[in-house]
Amino acid sequence: IAFSNLSKELVGKKVVVTAGGTQERIDPVRFIGNDSSGKMGYAVARAFLARGAEVTLISGPTKLTPPNNVKFISIESAAELQDQVIKNFATSDILVMAAAVADFKPVKQSKQKIKKDPTNDRWTLELTKNPDILQAVAKIKRLNQVTVGFAAETTDLINHATKKLCEKSLDLVVANDVSQPGVGFNVDTNQVTFISSDKTVESTELLTKSEIAELLVDKVIKKTAKSNS
Ligand code: CTP
Ligand code: CA
Repeated sequence: IAFSNLSKELVGKKVVVTAGGTQERIDPVRFIGNDSSGKMGYAVARAFLARGAEVTLISGPTKLTPPNNVKFISIESAAELQDQVIKNFATSDILVMAAAVADFKPVKQSKQKIKKDPTNDRWTLELTKNPDILQAVAKIKRLNQVTVGFAAETTDLINHATKKLCEKSLDLVVANDVSQPGVGFNVDTNQVTFISSDKTVESTELLTKSEIAELLVDKVIKKTAKSNS
């Protein structure tokens, strides 16, 4: 894998990047969250900006400062994320879903803080599946729009990620084995395998998330060039 010389190939292109983890409310003081720091998605947003693209960054709560020059949209739940993705995707050329979307949310969100039951040492929280945002996007995707997903896996990386590529009609999936040290959630580095809809599979070394983001953007640029020709 080689890094290309940075140039402004994406001037006039609109990109939506999602980042961070969603939070699913249980009650006013509690939520279900995940370990996503937002670092990978923010790096992707910066890499697109560097190529001249117009970037909308839709983000769950993070400790990061959004880059200057993005249109920043803050969300909490998967449902809010889905609304914003669908709204912004319609007028965009590229979507990169780096957000860690909660697969489930509580069936009920209590308006009041839930109290402990003194007579019961157990409490069961009932969850219901969240919509799959990329599958919803696949239904409205136009031929010249490029969609990229991530796949966080701990086993059978290529098979699981390839399945996601197909089921979500993606042009590219960025697969990472998050059981490896220095890979995936919260750290500043990542090691990924790019699996493309043209069936090419390419693994990187352990790189910084900025470097991974640059490689991702290079791959997307090649795909936009193809879909415009
Ligand atoms: N994703 C999504 N909507 C969801 C869940 C995930 O759009 N409800 C997106 C993520 O942003 C990511 C890709 O789908 O780009 C893969 O997410 P991942 O959690 O790895 O896969 P899932 O499809 O949720 O499958 P599983 O967690 O069971 O492996
Ligand atoms: Ca998931």
